[in-house]
Amino acid sequence: MSTAAPAPPPAAAYSHRSLSDADIPDICRFARDREELYFLFPRATWPLTPQQVRDSLASRRDPTVLLRGGEVVGYANFATFEEGRSASLGNVSVAPWARRTGVAKHLVRAMMDRAFDHHGLPELVLRCFNTNTPGLLLYTALGFVPIAIEERTAPWGNRLALLTLRIDRAGWNAGRGEG
Ligand SMILES: CC(C)(COP(=O)(O)OP(=O)(O)OC[C@H]1O[C@@H](n2cnc3c(N)ncnc32)[C@H](O)[C@@H]1OP(=O)(O)O)[C@@H](O)C(=O)NCCC(=O)NCCS
Repeated sequence: MSTAAPAPPPAAAYSHRSLSDADIPDICRFARDREELYFLFPRATWPLTPQQVRDSLASRRDPTVLLRGGEVVGYANFATFEEGRSASLGNVSVAPWARRTGVAKHLVRAMMDRAFDHHGLPELVLRCFNTNTPGLLLYTALGFVPIAIEERTAPWGNRLALLTLRIDRAGWNAGRGEG
């Protein structure tokens, strides 16, 4: 009997497009609990509702969904955007049933391509809490490096460290040849 893990879906199985209103109920189910919602959308209140997502879109740029086999499995956007200077990646989230199969890597790479290739930005940044091990390891694997730490207090009272991570154009180019 083989104990090998199933092969990850091929890159061709993935595509991405702009978020549509019909996708919003699905992405509201991506955070499994309050802590995950705080990680991906600190200003939201649990449970995430379609109205909170719709309201957030006024201040977000390039809201993007990742699809696999026609199903929406990931969501991200730019939380801030300064033309010609910088953008910050926000709301990175993956459907619980689709995790650990490479969805976030495809999603974040699509947002990196958008930032560097389409918008011509010199850098992309993001923020991630110290207790979010999956997030920190994901961004590190993609070439982001930590550049700053600030203190935050979680809604449940814990003191947390909020890391800012950054990747520049050279880092993005260096990672493009990797599967
Ligand atoms: C973090 C998150 C986006 C990762 O999504 P995912 O599709 O499961 O991630 P991937 O399968 O693409 O994994 C890519 C890398 O991330 C890291 N990673 C992802 N999940 C991990 C876990 N549970 N434990 C440790 N590392 C993990 C690994 O480095 C992994 O590479 P590997 O498979 O070669 O080890 C997902 O867990 C999620 O939606 N979490 C809740 C919201 C959140 O925290 N968003 C980030 C806010 S900053």
